Amino acid sequence: MKIRLLSTFIAFMVAFGGLNLTVLNAGSHASKDHEHTPLEDEMEAISKAFRTLRRQAKDPAKNAASAELAGKMHKAAVASLDFEPAWTAEQPAGEQADFVKGYKKEMEKFVGMLADLEKAFKADDNAKAEMIIGKLRDQQKSSHKEYKKPDDD
Ligand code: HEM
Repeated sequence: MKIRLLSTFIAFMVAFGGLNLTVLNAGSHASKDHEHTPLEDEMEAISKAFRTLRRQAKDPAKNAASAELAGKMHKAAVASLDFEPAWTAEQPAGEQADFVKGYKKEMEKFVGMLADLEKAFKADDNAKAEMIIGKLRDQQKSSHKEYKKPDDD
């Protein structure tokens, strides 16, 4: 009798413990698996290409590949012009239109810089490319400060 009770208890603990883990797992993934906004998808593409590009920007032997990466970033930045920052919805109603206008203006600047970057690599002008890359990083910082929701980081 005692043994039956004990095994029932163990079976219960295993089942409950297993269930608990499942619940905990689901909870810990929920925040990571949030639906990506279309703008986040473009930003991920920009970020991935930029990481590789920064590593190889000094190497003239890689200029053709670097021009291609700059082209990818350019395409994603142009696509980003069609979207609005998620943070827009949390701005005061009367300021939302200006918020989106400001975002698009900065994104257009960014698009222009990326076109120049692609040209610089195509012209084998690595010094100019390095200079533009520095400006892109500044632009990323200032635009994120202004248009990317702070706790999204
Ligand atoms: C080299 C330049 C840039 C890089 C590497 C970059 C990278 C990123 C990354 C990794 C994210 C997070 C994506 C995610 O959570 O999945 C992000 C989000 C964001 N970025 Fe950028 N970014 C750059 C430039 C810009 C510029 C120029 C703007 C605006 C003109 C901008 C506006 C935003 C906004 C608004 C978000 C939040 C997404 C949303 O609201 O849906 N970024 N960026």
